Amino acid sequence: MYDTEGEENRKAERYICNAGISINGFDGFAVLKNINMHGFCMASKTYITIAPHETLATRIIPEGVTGIDAFDLNVEVIWVKSTPILFTAGFLIKEKTDVKPFQQYIAHLKGGHSSASTSKIVFKWDDSLTTGNTLIDSEHKQLIQAINDFFTVCYNNSGGENLQKTINFMVDYTIKHFYDEEQLQIQYKYPGYDNHRKFHEGFKKRARDLMVGFIHSGPTNDLIRKAKHDIGEVLIEHIKREDTRLAAHIRGQQL
Ligand SMILES: [Fe+2]
Repeated sequence: MYDTEGEENRKAERYICNAGISINGFDGFAVLKNINMHGFCMASKTYITIAPHETLATRIIPEGVTGIDAFDLNVEVIWVKSTPILFTAGFLIKEKTDVKPFQQYIAHLKGGHSSASTSKIVFKWDDSLTTGNTLIDSEHKQLIQAINDFFTVCYNNSGGENLQKTINFMVDYTIKHFYDEEQLQIQYKYPGYDNHRKFHEGFKKRARDLMVGFIHSGPTNDLIRKAKHDIGEVLIEHIKREDTRLAAHIRGQQL
């Protein structure tokens, strides 16, 4: 069986994109992942029944880009995986890929790739974020860097593995940082511990749920918008208000 996650396919350039798709006349929304010249993987929340080794006529409708026409591809289903909420399938492109819109679409996705090294500073560190506690401040800087790295990958659409890696780091670092802050609160008998911890728990849960969405659907505009608020802005606000208060309490205890 052809394995799109296998070594063979890993050598090819991969792209993630949102596109409309119709399969044998059935219209649906899909995220096409890892498009390359051999095949592609599609994730969809639409219920359809297809089986391996069928050859299907698909129509791909590029989204988020103007001037590229929809194009038809005959594809062979190589594998399918399905859960109650998500359906994924790997397809092998069966026909010549010199169709003009297909080439244009790949060029468009490559354009996204070529800017992959451009760092995006969505959340800038400035003095208003300094709490005065050395450990907390250095971890906040690292966390904001991790968040900016995550948005850089999202905006550059630079592929599933990169996205997964930056998400893992960002989530792991958030957990570590919150743990460190909570240890300081216990050590210095911070009276706001319960509420602060409650905020941390809620934030971790929302971030985890959101990241599951990114992994399933890729970095869609809606998800990016939500992450900017729920992760970036909410955290900045928390640093300015709550963490500054915590740092002041620690300073008071150290006198
Ligand atoms: Fe905190």
